Amino acid sequence: MIQLHDKTFVPFIDEKSISTAVKMLAQEIADDIKGETPLFIGVLNGAFMVVSDLMRVYPGNCEVSFVKLASYEGTTTSGKVSELIGINESLEGRTVILVEDIVDTGNTLEVLHQIFSNQNLKSLKTATLFFKPEAYKKNLKIDYIGIEIPNKFIVGYGLDYDGLGRNLSQVYQLKTQHMTNIILFGPPGAGKGTQAEVLKDSYNLVHISTGDVFRYNIKNETELGLSAKSYMDKGQLVPDEVTINMLKAEVEKNEGANGFIFDGFPRTEAQAKALDKLLNFKNTQVNGMVALEVDDEVLVKRLLERGKTSGRPDDADESIIRNRIKVYYDETAILKGYYQKENKYFGVDGVGSIEEITERLKKVIDGL
Ligand code: IMP
Ligand code: MG
Repeated sequence: MIQLHDKTFVPFIDEKSISTAVKMLAQEIADDIKGETPLFIGVLNGAFMVVSDLMRVYPGNCEVSFVKLASYEGTTTSGKVSELIGINESLEGRTVILVEDIVDTGNTLEVLHQIFSNQNLKSLKTATLFFKPEAYKKNLKIDYIGIEIPNKFIVGYGLDYDGLGRNLSQVYQLKTQHMTNIILFGPPGAGKGTQAEVLKDSYNLVHISTGDVFRYNIKNETELGLSAKSYMDKGQLVPDEVTINMLKAEVEKNEGANGFIFDGFPRTEAQAKALDKLLNFKNTQVNGMVALEVDDEVLVKRLLERGKTSGRPDDADESIIRNRIKVYYDETAILKGYYQKENKYFGVDGVGSIEEITERLKKVIDGL
C-alpha cells in the first residue's frame, strides 16, 4: 500500500505483467508494419516509461520523439487539451506510432489525431499500454492495446496522481474502502455508550468512546491523561488538539476496520473538520450523525443515578452535571448544523427501553 498526497493506492498490475504486455505490443507493431522503420511518438509526461521499455524490446530499427499536450490534474479527466509542443520537423511520409501510457476518455487521442491528420504521414497508428474501455467515448480505432483495465484510477509506471507516482515500477489502483462511520451524538446521559455497545456488534464496527479512552489514560496517569483530567473534573471539554491526536491514534490502531462508531467525538467544528480530513485520508467519510434526543431533566436524573455506582466524579454532583449538559448545548449544538448542511444529521428519540431505542437507531443506520 502506498500513500500519494491524500489518497491510498494498492498494488494492481505487477512489473512482470507490464513487461509482458510491452513485449507483446512491440511484437504486434513490428509484425503489422513489416519492414518499415517506425517513428514512435510518445505522449508526455506519462508515456516516457512505456516508450523507453517499448524501444528496448522492439525487434528492429525505430526512431523516437515526444510531444506534449496539457496534462490533467486529479482523478477525473478535465476534457480540455492544449496545443501540441515538441515536433518541429516535417513528418511527411513517415510511419508514425503514437504511444500513450493510457487512453481514458480518448479526448487527448482525438486531438492528437486531428493535429497529425494534415501532416501527410504515410500512416498514423496508436499504441497504448493501458486502455479503459468503459471510459472510452470516441470512435477512433486504437491499433495496439497492451492491457485493458476497468474504469479505475491508476498510478505508477509513468502515470501520476497530481505529479506523484510516475516513478513506481508497478501499477497501483486507488484503494476504495467501504466503511460505515457513525457519529453517535447526544448530551451526557443520553445513552450513547449503551447503544454503541449494541450497535458495534450488530454492524461489526469499532466503538471509539472519547470519554473511555480519556479515563483509561487518566487511570494510567499518562501525559495525555493528566492533561485531560484537569478539564474533565470541572465538566469542561478537553482542548481540541489533545482530543484530535488521541482520536487519530485510535483510528490508526484499527486499520482495516469495517467502520467506526464515534461516541463523544467530534464535539466542536474544528474536531469535525479534523475527522473529515482523517477519514478522507482513508478514502472514506462520515456517513451520518445519529443523535439521541433526551429532555434535560431526564438526563440529570439518569446521571445522578449512574453516579451512585459508576464512581465517576463528574456524575456525582448535580451542578457539574448541569454544566456538562449546558456545555454540550452551548459548544456542540453547532455540529448539528454542520452535519445538517450535508444532510447527515438524524435525530432519534432517546427515551424508552434500550431495545426500543436500538431499533430506532438501526432504522436510521440501515438507511445511510
Ligand atoms: P483521455 O484524454 O481521457 O484519454 O486521458 C488521457 C490522459 O489522462 C492520460 O494521458 C493520463 O495523463 C490521464 N489519465 C487517464 N486515466 C488516468 C489514470 O487512471 N491515472 C493517471 N492518469 C490518467
Ligand atoms: Mg498522458
